[in-house]
Amino acid sequence: MTRLTNKVAIITGGASGIGEGTVRKFVTEGAKVVIADVQDEAGVALQAELGESVLFQHTNVSDEADVKALVDLTMSHFGRLDTIFNNAGFGGVSGDVDTIELGEAYDATIGVMFTGVVLGAKHAAKIMKAQGSGSIISTASVAGIQGGYGPHVYSGIKAAVIGYTRSIAHELAAFSVRANCICPGGIATPIFKPMIDPDGQSNEPTADIMRPLLAHMHPIKRSGEASDIANMACFLASDESSFVTGQHMRIDGGLMDMRAGERGAGPTSAATSSDEG
Ligand SMILES: NC(=O)c1ccc[n+]([C@@H]2O[C@H](COP(=O)([O-])OP(=O)(O)OC[C@H]3O[C@@H](n4cnc5c(N)ncnc54)[C@H](O)[C@@H]3O)[C@@H](O)[C@H]2O)c1
Repeated sequence: MTRLTNKVAIITGGASGIGEGTVRKFVTEGAKVVIADVQDEAGVALQAELGESVLFQHTNVSDEADVKALVDLTMSHFGRLDTIFNNAGFGGVSGDVDTIELGEAYDATIGVMFTGVVLGAKHAAKIMKAQGSGSIISTASVAGIQGGYGPHVYSGIKAAVIGYTRSIAHELAAFSVRANCICPGGIATPIFKPMIDPDGQSNEPTADIMRPLLAHMHPIKRSGEASDIANMACFLASDESSFVTGQHMRIDGGLMDMRAGERGAGPTSAATSSDEG
């Protein structure tokens, strides 16, 4: 399978979950991939496993110097940049609306999941505008479309990612650069670890614990998998989607099409804040 032959991609949050699944998919489809993450051990291990098609770069996506260095490294090592997948994230700051504290956790939540998208798009767009092609993909969420699927700040940020994507797509279309985002439903990944195992006591993979819990949420009665999102990211990174821009793609097993009273509550609505990021 070679839908991404000769393409070079950056995947943020690529050391775990959806990002890791997308790294694997892109490599299988012939791409060269730079994994950008703060989890060095997992990132280095994935690079070692996948070989020369992959490079790991420690990157805090909320830090502009890190993101610029990431794009510079991609250009010097692989010579071009066709796709950036702004995907890094975590549950972030939580709490009832009248208790939300401003401070470090709040800033980190916005820094990783909104500023990280803005910075990834900024530094990738400089390259892509000049080369007259490129695909900017970001991970939003069903939480950015409906209430009740994530903490309030998380949901607001994910709605902002959808709006930001539409806005930049409008500017970038003139350069044949596309911008789209993906709205996953409940995907079995380690993002739920702080919620289900806050003290880090369990050795059972979080994804395995989450699969049965997430299955009831969707009209298609299974949990979403990282590969479901990776498949859409692959389409958006490939030339098959060359007429697709400004979209938010729901990969949610039909969740957003259910009537309100039929929807299962999203487990992310109880997600706790995380130190990650
Ligand atoms: N899993 C779901 O059900 C679900 C649903 C909707 C949206 N999402 C979104 O999908 C994206 C990926 O989440 P996931 O489920 O794969 O979780 P995950 O925890 O498996 O992966 C997230 C990755 O982001 C990395 N990361 C966190 N802060 C970072 C930073 N400052 N700089 C660089 N990397 C950082 C983490 O180290 C981790 O490797 C997130 O944006 C999340 O909000 C997930």
